[in-house]
Amino acid sequence: MTLTIVGSQLGDEGKGALVDRWGGDADVVVRYQGGDNAGHTVVEGGAEYKLSLVPSGAVRGTVGVLGNGCVVNPRTLFSEIDGLRERGLDPDVRVARRAHVILPYHRVLDGIEEEVKADDDAGDEVGTTGRGIGPTYEDKAGRRGVRVADLLDPGVLREKLEYAVPQKRAIVEDVYGLEIDGDEERAEAFDVDALHQEFAAIGERLADEGMTVNCSDYLHRRHEAGDEILFEGAQGTHIDVDHGNYPFVTSSNPTAGAAAVGSGLGVTKVGDGEVVGIVKAYLSRVGEGPMPTELDGDADEEALADDIREKGGEFGTVTGRPRRIGWLDLPMLRHAARVSGFTGLAVNHVDVLAGLDGLKVCTGYELDGEEIDTVPTTTDRWERCEPVYESLDTWAEFDSAAVAEEGYDALPEAAREYLEFVADETDTPVYAVGVGPDREETVELVNPFDA
Ligand code: IMP
Repeated sequence: MTLTIVGSQLGDEGKGALVDRWGGDADVVVRYQGGDNAGHTVVEGGAEYKLSLVPSGAVRGTVGVLGNGCVVNPRTLFSEIDGLRERGLDPDVRVARRAHVILPYHRVLDGIEEEVKADDDAGDEVGTTGRGIGPTYEDKAGRRGVRVADLLDPGVLREKLEYAVPQKRAIVEDVYGLEIDGDEERAEAFDVDALHQEFAAIGERLADEGMTVNCSDYLHRRHEAGDEILFEGAQGTHIDVDHGNYPFVTSSNPTAGAAAVGSGLGVTKVGDGEVVGIVKAYLSRVGEGPMPTELDGDADEEALADDIREKGGEFGTVTGRPRRIGWLDLPMLRHAARVSGFTGLAVNHVDVLAGLDGLKVCTGYELDGEEIDTVPTTTDRWERCEPVYESLDTWAEFDSAAVAEEGYDALPEAAREYLEFVADETDTPVYAVGVGPDREETVELVNPFDA
Protein backbone atom coordinates (compact mmCIF):
# COMPACT_ATOMS: atom_id res chain seq x y z
CA MET A 1 0.00 0.00 0.00
CA THR A 2 0.97 3.64 -0.04
CA LEU A 3 1.01 6.37 2.60
CA THR A 4 1.22 10.02 1.57
CA ILE A 5 2.31 12.59 4.13
CA VAL A 6 1.22 16.16 3.41
CA GLY A 7 1.82 19.46 5.22
CA SER A 8 -1.58 21.01 6.09
CA GLN A 9 -0.44 24.53 6.71
CA LEU A 10 2.51 26.59 5.45
CA GLY A 11 5.32 24.06 5.76
CA ASP A 12 7.36 23.26 8.88
CA GLU A 13 4.60 21.17 10.49
CA GLY A 14 7.10 18.55 11.65
CA LYS A 15 6.55 16.15 8.75
CA GLY A 16 10.08 14.75 9.05
CA ALA A 17 9.43 13.15 12.45
CA LEU A 18 6.36 11.27 11.15
CA VAL A 19 8.01 10.32 7.88
CA ASP A 20 10.90 8.99 9.88
CA ARG A 21 8.64 7.10 12.29
CA TRP A 22 6.34 5.53 9.70
CA GLY A 23 9.21 5.29 7.22
CA GLY A 24 10.45 2.48 9.45
CA ASP A 25 7.47 0.43 8.20
CA ALA A 26 8.02 1.45 4.58
CA ASP A 27 10.30 -0.17 2.04
CA VAL A 28 10.67 2.97 -0.07
CA VAL A 29 10.33 6.68 0.81
CA VAL A 30 9.66 8.97 -2.15
CA ARG A 31 9.80 12.73 -2.45
CA TYR A 32 7.52 13.90 -5.27
CA GLN A 33 8.07 17.68 -5.44
CA GLY A 34 10.30 20.53 -4.34
CA GLY A 35 14.00 20.43 -3.79
CA ASP A 36 16.49 21.68 -1.22
CA ASN A 37 14.06 24.41 -0.11
CA ALA A 38 12.66 21.85 2.33
CA GLY A 39 14.18 21.40 5.74
CA HIS A 40 13.68 18.25 7.73
CA THR A 41 15.12 17.77 11.18
CA VAL A 42 15.18 14.16 12.25
CA VAL A 43 16.16 13.38 15.82
CA GLU A 44 17.26 9.80 16.38
CA GLY A 45 18.60 8.59 19.71
CA GLY A 46 19.68 12.12 20.65
CA ALA A 47 21.51 12.68 17.33
CA GLU A 48 20.10 15.40 15.12
CA TYR A 49 20.11 15.19 11.33
CA LYS A 50 19.19 18.20 9.24
CA LEU A 51 18.27 17.27 5.70
CA SER A 52 16.91 19.36 2.90
CA LEU A 53 16.93 17.03 -0.08
CA VAL A 54 17.67 13.45 0.91
CA PRO A 55 14.36 11.83 2.06
CA SER A 56 14.21 11.64 5.86
CA GLY A 57 13.81 7.83 5.76
CA ALA A 58 17.48 7.62 4.77
CA VAL A 59 18.42 8.07 8.43
CA ARG A 60 16.78 4.69 9.10
CA GLY A 61 18.28 2.95 6.12
CA THR A 62 15.13 2.96 3.95
CA VAL A 63 15.58 3.46 0.18
CA GLY A 64 14.96 7.13 -0.64
CA VAL A 65 13.74 8.20 -4.07
CA LEU A 66 13.69 11.72 -5.52
CA GLY A 67 10.82 11.55 -7.99
CA ASN A 68 10.45 13.17 -11.40
CA GLY A 69 8.46 16.01 -9.81
CA CYS A 70 11.48 17.11 -7.76
CA VAL A 71 14.09 19.68 -8.70
CA VAL A 72 17.48 18.35 -7.69
CA ASN A 73 20.54 20.37 -6.76
CA PRO A 74 23.29 17.74 -7.12
CA ARG A 75 25.71 19.75 -4.99
CA THR A 76 23.28 19.56 -2.07
CA LEU A 77 22.47 15.93 -2.79
CA PHE A 78 26.10 14.82 -2.61
CA SER A 79 26.99 17.04 0.32
CA GLU A 80 24.10 15.49 2.33
CA ILE A 81 24.97 11.94 1.27
CA ASP A 82 28.64 12.48 2.10
CA GLY A 83 27.69 14.08 5.45
CA LEU A 84 25.53 11.08 6.39
CA ARG A 85 28.32 8.68 5.35
CA GLU A 86 30.78 10.57 7.56
CA ARG A 87 28.38 9.98 10.47
CA GLY A 88 28.40 6.25 9.81
CA LEU A 89 25.14 5.94 7.84
CA ASP A 90 24.85 4.42 4.39
CA PRO A 91 21.96 6.20 2.64
CA ASP A 92 20.52 4.47 -0.44
CA VAL A 93 19.20 7.30 -2.62
CA ARG A 94 17.78 6.95 -6.15
CA VAL A 95 17.08 9.90 -8.41
CA ALA A 96 14.50 9.98 -11.21
CA ARG A 97 16.09 10.46 -14.60
CA ARG A 98 13.10 12.69 -15.45
CA ALA A 99 13.74 15.03 -12.49
CA HIS A 100 15.00 18.52 -13.33
CA VAL A 101 18.39 19.82 -12.22
CA ILE A 102 18.90 23.05 -10.32
CA LEU A 103 21.91 24.73 -11.89
CA PRO A 104 23.93 27.52 -10.29
CA TYR A 105 22.32 30.14 -12.56
CA HIS A 106 18.88 29.24 -11.19
CA ARG A 107 19.98 30.26 -7.72
CA VAL A 108 21.45 33.51 -9.01
CA LEU A 109 18.22 34.30 -10.86
CA ASP A 110 16.12 33.49 -7.76
CA GLY A 111 18.16 36.01 -5.75
CA ILE A 112 18.01 38.71 -8.41
CA GLU A 113 14.25 38.48 -8.85
CA GLU A 114 13.64 38.70 -5.12
CA GLU A 115 15.93 41.73 -4.85
CA VAL A 116 14.23 43.48 -7.72
CA LYS A 117 10.80 42.83 -6.20
CA ALA A 118 12.00 44.05 -2.79
CA ASP A 119 13.35 47.27 -4.33
CA ASP A 120 10.14 48.24 -6.11
CA ASP A 121 8.30 48.70 -2.78
CA ALA A 122 5.20 46.91 -4.10
CA GLY A 123 5.49 44.29 -1.35
CA ASP A 124 5.44 41.49 -3.90
CA GLU A 125 8.64 39.68 -2.94
CA VAL A 126 7.89 36.09 -1.97
CA GLY A 127 10.68 35.61 0.55
CA THR A 128 11.94 32.51 -1.24
CA THR A 129 14.60 30.26 0.21
CA GLY A 130 16.94 31.43 -2.57
CA ARG A 131 17.58 27.85 -3.68
CA GLY A 132 16.62 28.43 -7.34
CA ILE A 133 13.40 26.43 -7.06
CA GLY A 134 11.13 28.82 -9.00
CA PRO A 135 13.55 29.45 -11.89
CA THR A 136 14.12 25.68 -12.29
CA TYR A 137 10.39 24.90 -12.48
CA GLU A 138 10.04 27.82 -14.94
CA ASP A 139 12.60 26.17 -17.20
CA LYS A 140 10.84 22.83 -16.82
CA ALA A 141 7.52 24.34 -17.98
CA GLY A 142 9.36 26.35 -20.64
CA ARG A 143 10.89 23.14 -22.06
CA ARG A 144 14.44 24.40 -21.64
CA GLY A 145 15.32 22.55 -18.44
CA VAL A 146 18.22 20.18 -17.88
CA ARG A 147 17.11 16.81 -16.54
CA VAL A 148 19.04 14.27 -14.53
CA ALA A 149 19.17 12.01 -17.62
CA ASP A 150 20.96 14.80 -19.50
CA LEU A 151 23.82 14.74 -16.99
CA LEU A 152 24.53 11.17 -18.02
CA ASP A 153 25.35 12.14 -21.62
CA PRO A 154 28.05 14.84 -21.93
CA GLY A 155 27.09 15.65 -25.54
CA VAL A 156 23.43 16.23 -24.71
CA LEU A 157 24.40 18.20 -21.61
CA ARG A 158 26.55 20.56 -23.67
CA GLU A 159 23.75 21.13 -26.19
CA LYS A 160 21.27 21.95 -23.43
CA LEU A 161 23.66 24.35 -21.71
CA GLU A 162 24.57 26.06 -24.96
CA TYR A 163 20.87 26.70 -25.56
CA ALA A 164 19.89 27.81 -22.04
CA VAL A 165 22.89 29.75 -20.71
CA PRO A 166 22.97 32.61 -23.28
CA GLN A 167 19.25 33.21 -22.60
CA LYS A 168 19.87 33.42 -18.86
CA ARG A 169 22.82 35.73 -19.42
CA ALA A 170 20.64 38.03 -21.53
CA ILE A 171 17.99 38.14 -18.79
CA VAL A 172 20.53 39.22 -16.19
CA GLU A 173 22.36 41.73 -18.40
CA ASP A 174 19.64 43.09 -20.66
CA VAL A 175 16.46 42.74 -18.62
CA TYR A 176 17.83 43.43 -15.14
CA GLY A 177 20.79 45.52 -16.33
CA LEU A 178 23.21 43.71 -14.02
CA GLU A 179 26.80 42.67 -14.59
CA ILE A 180 27.83 39.05 -14.67
CA ASP A 181 31.52 38.99 -15.40
CA GLY A 182 32.60 41.41 -12.63
CA ASP A 183 31.69 38.86 -9.95
CA GLU A 184 33.63 35.59 -9.96
CA GLU A 185 30.90 33.37 -8.48
CA ARG A 186 28.23 34.81 -10.74
CA ALA A 187 30.51 34.51 -13.79
CA GLU A 188 31.02 30.80 -13.13
CA ALA A 189 27.26 30.26 -12.88
CA PHE A 190 26.90 31.49 -16.46
CA ASP A 191 30.00 29.85 -17.96
CA VAL A 192 29.06 26.95 -20.24
CA ASP A 193 32.49 25.28 -20.00
CA ALA A 194 32.67 25.46 -16.21
CA LEU A 195 29.08 24.21 -15.86
CA HIS A 196 29.70 21.40 -18.32
CA GLN A 197 32.82 20.24 -16.53
CA GLU A 198 31.16 20.18 -13.10
CA PHE A 199 27.82 18.68 -14.11
CA ALA A 200 29.22 16.04 -16.47
CA ALA A 201 31.38 14.86 -13.54
CA ILE A 202 28.24 14.76 -11.38
CA GLY A 203 26.59 12.64 -14.09
CA GLU A 204 29.54 10.25 -13.93
CA ARG A 205 29.20 9.92 -10.18
CA LEU A 206 25.44 9.32 -10.44
CA ALA A 207 26.11 6.59 -13.02
CA ASP A 208 29.02 5.03 -11.09
CA GLU A 209 26.91 4.79 -7.94
CA GLY A 210 23.91 3.43 -9.90
CA MET A 211 21.70 6.14 -8.45
CA THR A 212 19.41 7.03 -11.35
CA VAL A 213 16.09 5.30 -12.05
CA ASN A 214 13.11 5.38 -14.35
CA CYS A 215 10.96 6.37 -11.39
CA SER A 216 7.56 5.21 -12.64
CA ASP A 217 8.91 1.84 -13.68
CA TYR A 218 10.90 1.43 -10.46
CA LEU A 219 7.97 2.27 -8.15
CA HIS A 220 5.51 0.24 -10.18
CA ARG A 221 7.71 -2.83 -9.76
CA ARG A 222 8.18 -2.22 -6.04
CA HIS A 223 4.43 -1.74 -5.61
CA GLU A 224 3.65 -4.91 -7.60
CA ALA A 225 6.09 -6.81 -5.38
CA GLY A 226 3.98 -5.80 -2.37
CA ASP A 227 6.38 -3.21 -0.97
CA GLU A 228 5.11 -0.39 1.24
CA ILE A 229 5.68 3.04 -0.31
CA LEU A 230 5.68 6.27 1.66
CA PHE A 231 5.34 9.57 -0.21
CA GLU A 232 6.98 12.39 1.68
CA GLY A 233 5.43 15.75 0.78
CA ALA A 234 7.62 18.79 1.38
CA GLN A 235 6.38 22.32 2.22
CA GLY A 236 2.62 22.66 2.81
CA THR A 237 -0.85 23.02 1.28
CA HIS A 238 -1.04 26.79 1.56
CA ILE A 239 2.19 27.31 -0.36
CA ASP A 240 1.09 24.93 -3.15
CA VAL A 241 1.35 26.72 -6.50
CA ASP A 242 -2.25 25.73 -7.39
CA HIS A 243 -4.04 25.46 -4.05
CA GLY A 244 -2.04 27.88 -1.92
CA ASN A 245 -1.83 31.59 -1.38
CA TYR A 246 -0.58 32.58 -4.84
CA PRO A 247 1.82 34.30 -5.48
CA PHE A 248 3.31 33.72 -1.98
CA VAL A 249 3.85 30.08 -2.81
CA THR A 250 6.53 27.65 -3.81
CA SER A 251 6.55 26.54 -7.45
CA SER A 252 5.39 22.95 -6.98
CA ASN A 253 2.42 20.98 -5.60
CA PRO A 254 2.92 19.71 -2.04
CA THR A 255 -0.71 18.44 -2.02
CA ALA A 256 -1.43 14.72 -2.33
CA GLY A 257 -2.46 14.65 -6.00
CA ALA A 258 1.12 15.44 -6.93
CA ALA A 259 2.35 12.20 -5.35
CA ALA A 260 1.10 10.39 -8.47
CA VAL A 261 2.24 12.99 -11.00
CA GLY A 262 5.60 13.58 -9.35
CA SER A 263 6.50 9.90 -9.11
CA GLY A 264 4.75 8.10 -11.94
CA LEU A 265 2.90 5.69 -9.65
CA GLY A 266 -0.72 5.83 -10.89
CA VAL A 267 -3.40 7.85 -9.09
CA THR A 268 -5.45 4.74 -8.38
CA LYS A 269 -2.48 3.19 -6.56
CA VAL A 270 -1.74 6.35 -4.57
CA GLY A 271 -5.46 6.98 -3.94
CA ASP A 272 -5.94 3.46 -2.67
CA GLY A 273 -3.64 4.24 0.26
CA GLU A 274 -3.71 6.57 3.26
CA VAL A 275 -3.16 10.33 3.16
CA VAL A 276 -2.14 11.88 6.46
CA GLY A 277 -2.17 15.65 6.96
CA ILE A 278 0.48 16.93 9.33
CA VAL A 279 -0.73 19.80 11.50
CA LYS A 280 1.19 22.01 13.87
CA ALA A 281 -0.96 22.74 16.95
CA TYR A 282 -0.51 26.46 16.23
CA LEU A 283 0.56 28.20 13.01
CA SER A 284 3.92 29.36 11.72
CA ARG A 285 4.91 31.04 8.50
CA VAL A 286 8.28 31.82 6.99
CA GLY A 287 8.26 34.36 4.21
CA GLU A 288 5.65 36.88 3.16
CA GLY A 289 1.88 36.68 2.75
CA PRO A 290 -1.32 36.96 4.83
CA MET A 291 -1.71 35.24 8.18
CA PRO A 292 -5.01 36.28 9.81
CA THR A 293 -4.21 34.63 13.17
CA GLU A 294 -0.70 36.09 13.47
CA LEU A 295 0.21 37.08 17.02
CA ASP A 296 1.48 40.57 16.30
CA GLY A 297 -1.38 42.85 17.43
CA ASP A 298 0.21 44.31 20.56
CA ALA A 299 3.16 43.85 22.93
CA ASP A 300 1.42 40.99 24.81
CA GLU A 301 0.78 39.09 21.61
CA GLU A 302 4.34 39.66 20.44
CA ALA A 303 5.68 38.38 23.78
CA LEU A 304 3.50 35.28 23.46
CA ALA A 305 4.73 34.74 19.90
CA ASP A 306 8.33 35.06 21.15
CA ASP A 307 7.69 32.43 23.84
CA ILE A 308 6.12 29.98 21.39
CA ARG A 309 8.91 30.64 18.85
CA GLU A 310 11.60 29.90 21.41
CA LYS A 311 9.87 26.88 22.89
CA GLY A 312 8.96 25.42 19.52
CA GLY A 313 12.35 26.21 17.93
CA GLU A 314 10.58 28.18 15.22
CA PHE A 315 13.56 29.22 13.14
CA GLY A 316 13.93 28.11 9.51
CA THR A 317 15.92 24.88 9.07
CA VAL A 318 17.23 26.05 5.70
CA THR A 319 17.57 29.80 6.21
CA GLY A 320 17.58 30.26 10.02
CA ARG A 321 14.90 32.97 9.67
CA PRO A 322 12.58 33.43 12.69
CA ARG A 323 9.12 32.16 11.79
CA ARG A 324 5.95 34.24 12.22
CA ILE A 325 3.61 32.70 14.83
CA GLY A 326 -0.21 32.56 15.05
CA TRP A 327 -3.14 30.60 16.50
CA LEU A 328 -4.36 27.43 14.79
CA ASP A 329 -6.46 28.36 11.76
CA LEU A 330 -9.27 25.87 10.99
CA PRO A 331 -10.35 27.38 7.64
CA MET A 332 -6.83 26.55 6.43
CA LEU A 333 -7.11 22.99 7.72
CA ARG A 334 -10.53 22.44 6.11
CA HIS A 335 -9.10 23.49 2.74
CA ALA A 336 -6.08 21.22 3.21
CA ALA A 337 -8.25 18.22 4.18
CA ARG A 338 -10.42 18.67 1.08
CA VAL A 339 -7.65 19.26 -1.45
CA SER A 340 -5.63 16.22 -0.40
CA GLY A 341 -8.48 14.01 0.83
CA PHE A 342 -6.95 13.37 4.24
CA THR A 343 -7.72 10.01 5.84
CA GLY A 344 -5.95 10.96 9.08
CA LEU A 345 -4.18 13.79 10.92
CA ALA A 346 -0.99 13.97 12.93
CA VAL A 347 -0.96 16.97 15.27
CA ASN A 348 2.50 18.09 16.35
CA HIS A 349 3.95 20.43 18.96
CA VAL A 350 1.11 19.90 21.44
CA ASP A 351 3.75 20.24 24.20
CA VAL A 352 4.62 23.76 23.00
CA LEU A 353 1.13 25.04 23.88
CA ALA A 354 1.30 23.68 27.45
CA GLY A 355 1.25 26.22 30.27
CA LEU A 356 -0.36 29.11 28.36
CA ASP A 357 -2.69 31.57 30.13
CA GLY A 358 -5.24 31.36 27.33
CA LEU A 359 -5.75 29.38 24.14
CA LYS A 360 -7.64 30.38 21.01
CA VAL A 361 -8.53 28.59 17.78
CA CYS A 362 -9.75 30.35 14.67
CA THR A 363 -12.97 28.64 13.54
CA GLY A 364 -13.88 30.97 10.65
CA TYR A 365 -13.33 34.45 9.24
CA GLU A 366 -15.35 37.59 8.91
CA LEU A 367 -14.99 39.16 5.50
CA ASP A 368 -16.98 42.19 4.35
CA GLY A 369 -19.62 41.57 7.01
CA GLU A 370 -20.05 37.89 6.17
CA GLU A 371 -18.81 34.85 8.04
CA ILE A 372 -16.94 32.30 5.92
CA ASP A 373 -15.39 28.97 6.86
CA THR A 374 -12.71 28.46 4.23
CA VAL A 375 -9.75 30.39 2.82
CA PRO A 376 -10.55 32.96 0.10
CA THR A 377 -8.83 32.44 -3.26
CA THR A 378 -7.03 35.78 -3.45
CA THR A 379 -4.36 37.32 -1.27
CA ASP A 380 -6.28 40.57 -1.07
CA ARG A 381 -9.43 38.92 0.30
CA TRP A 382 -7.49 36.67 2.68
CA GLU A 383 -5.57 39.66 3.99
CA ARG A 384 -8.84 41.40 4.85
CA CYS A 385 -10.21 38.43 6.82
CA GLU A 386 -10.77 38.95 10.52
CA PRO A 387 -10.42 35.70 12.47
CA VAL A 388 -13.39 34.44 14.49
CA TYR A 389 -12.03 32.73 17.57
CA GLU A 390 -13.23 30.13 20.00
CA SER A 391 -11.42 30.00 23.37
CA LEU A 392 -10.52 26.57 24.66
CA ASP A 393 -9.19 25.36 27.99
CA THR A 394 -5.44 25.35 28.47
CA TRP A 395 -3.37 22.52 29.87
CA ALA A 396 -0.39 22.46 32.20
CA GLU A 397 3.14 21.31 31.31
CA PHE A 398 3.39 17.52 31.18
CA ASP A 399 6.11 14.90 30.99
CA SER A 400 6.37 14.19 27.25
CA ALA A 401 8.36 10.98 27.60
CA ALA A 402 5.84 9.55 30.09
CA VAL A 403 2.88 10.54 27.91
CA ALA A 404 4.54 9.03 24.84
CA GLU A 405 5.02 5.81 26.73
CA GLU A 406 1.60 5.61 28.39
CA GLY A 407 -0.41 6.72 25.37
CA TYR A 408 -3.23 9.07 24.44
CA ASP A 409 -5.15 8.84 27.70
CA ALA A 410 -2.12 10.15 29.59
CA LEU A 411 -2.42 13.50 27.80
CA PRO A 412 -4.02 16.28 29.89
CA GLU A 413 -7.80 16.30 29.38
CA ALA A 414 -7.81 19.80 27.86
CA ALA A 415 -5.21 18.73 25.29
CA ARG A 416 -7.40 15.76 24.31
CA GLU A 417 -10.39 18.10 23.99
CA TYR A 418 -8.32 20.36 21.75
CA LEU A 419 -7.36 17.43 19.50
CA GLU A 420 -10.93 16.14 19.34
CA PHE A 421 -12.14 19.63 18.44
CA VAL A 422 -9.70 19.75 15.50
CA ALA A 423 -10.72 16.25 14.37
CA ASP A 424 -14.43 17.17 14.45
CA GLU A 425 -13.94 20.44 12.60
CA THR A 426 -11.94 18.80 9.82
CA ASP A 427 -13.94 15.57 9.81
CA THR A 428 -10.67 13.63 9.99
CA PRO A 429 -9.48 11.34 12.80
CA VAL A 430 -6.25 11.99 14.68
CA TYR A 431 -3.71 9.24 14.00
CA ALA A 432 -0.78 10.65 15.97
CA VAL A 433 0.13 13.41 18.42
CA GLY A 434 3.59 14.94 18.66
CA VAL A 435 4.56 15.82 22.24
CA GLY A 436 8.28 16.50 21.72
CA PRO A 437 10.93 16.62 19.01
CA ASP A 438 12.28 13.07 19.33
CA ARG A 439 10.72 10.34 17.22
CA GLU A 440 9.85 8.50 20.41
CA GLU A 441 7.91 11.50 21.69
CA THR A 442 4.89 10.74 19.54
CA VAL A 443 1.63 9.21 20.73
CA GLU A 444 0.42 6.93 17.99
CA LEU A 445 -3.30 6.11 17.85
CA VAL A 446 -3.24 4.51 14.39
CA ASN A 447 -0.32 3.34 12.29
CA PRO A 448 -1.50 4.21 8.77
CA PHE A 449 0.23 1.13 7.35
CA ASP A 450 -2.13 -0.97 9.51
CA ALA A 451 -5.23 1.16 8.91
P1 IMP B 1 10.84 28.77 -2.69
O1 IMP B 1 10.23 27.41 -2.52
O2 IMP B 1 12.26 28.84 -2.23
O3 IMP B 1 10.66 29.29 -4.09
O4 IMP B 1 10.05 29.78 -1.73
C1 IMP B 1 8.69 30.14 -1.98
C2 IMP B 1 7.92 30.29 -0.67
O5 IMP B 1 7.79 29.02 -0.07
C3 IMP B 1 8.59 31.19 0.36
O6 IMP B 1 7.59 31.86 1.11
C4 IMP B 1 9.34 30.20 1.24
O7 IMP B 1 9.57 30.71 2.53
C5 IMP B 1 8.33 29.06 1.26
N1 IMP B 1 8.96 27.76 1.52
C6 IMP B 1 9.69 27.01 0.65
N2 IMP B 1 10.08 25.87 1.23
C7 IMP B 1 9.57 25.88 2.48
C8 IMP B 1 9.61 24.92 3.56
O8 IMP B 1 10.15 23.82 3.47
N3 IMP B 1 8.95 25.32 4.69
C9 IMP B 1 8.28 26.49 4.80
N4 IMP B 1 8.22 27.39 3.82
C10 IMP B 1 8.86 27.08 2.67
